[in-house]
Amino acid sequence: MKGVKLSRDRDGRLCVERFAMWRRVEHVITIIVFSTLVLTGFPQKFYDTAWAATLIELFGGLNDARVIHRVAGITFSILLGLHIAVFVGGVITKRMRMSLVPTPQDLRDAWQNLRFYFGLREKQPRMPKFDYRQKFEYIGMVMGSLVMVATGVFLMWPVETAGVVGGEALAASRIAHSNEAVLALLVIVVWHIYSAVLAPDVFPLDKTMITGKMTVEELKHRHAIEYDRIFPAGEPVDELAAAEGAPAEGTPEPEPKGDGPVGPTS
Ligand code: HEM
Repeated sequence: MKGVKLSRDRDGRLCVERFAMWRRVEHVITIIVFSTLVLTGFPQKFYDTAWAATLIELFGGLNDARVIHRVAGITFSILLGLHIAVFVGGVITKRMRMSLVPTPQDLRDAWQNLRFYFGLREKQPRMPKFDYRQKFEYIGMVMGSLVMVATGVFLMWPVETAGVVGGEALAASRIAHSNEAVLALLVIVVWHIYSAVLAPDVFPLDKTMITGKMTVEELKHRHAIEYDRIFPAGEPVDELAAAEGAPAEGTPEPEPKGDGPVGPTS
């Protein structure tokens, strides 16, 4: 159980920490900044529609909307840079696992899951901390963000950019930025909202990114390989009971202790 925080939720169910506080804060900031970019970017793309005019008006006119978009764009670029730097630093110093990086096993998992959906396999494959769908979505978002940042920076300094990469590359950047914005919004609205809200496993809302916790039962069901990694020695109830100093097996369930962490972090 090295490096894992255990706690109980309000219903007394045993939980593991899945996302640290700073990850959840990063997620909230990303939602706010991304929404601002969408709300100030799309009215510029669809400038001749009534809803675009209303939105531009709300932001104080076209000039203000452009300034807000640019400030949000720079914030977004800094967030992305920090995210990648923390990841690279974490991996180099071995403080972070590459649990969101796709591996050949993900292809096999996808194939086996497809077979399960077609009734050719009895059980779904056992998934790691992040399954192939989550990894694919994450990598897609990072790649898409890199395109938005690169093309956004080009558009922000068009004269300088045209001087370095040429006018054609600048024109291509505008088209890429404009079209990738649609793709990014669709990925968020269709894919992310489905996986975080509408998917049968998590409906009506996957609260993991809000509370930072996942119940051990859910972990066992959705990420069995991660469950085995965290609890190689078996049932977690005993581990928590030991951490609480209570007798382990054969004794009544301990009283719910609220939301705070109760176990050791290692
Ligand atoms: C990631 C989410 C983003 C979305 C959804 C988005 C969306 C858009 C859209 C739809 C447009 C209008 C394109 C057109 O006229 O066809 C636009 C323009 C623009 N975007 Fe973004 N954008 C994003 C990120 C960024 C970033 C990261 C930057 C800067 C680093 C940026 C800087 C700009 C600039 C400079 C323009 C041209 C408008 C102007 O000159 O003020 N955007 N964006």
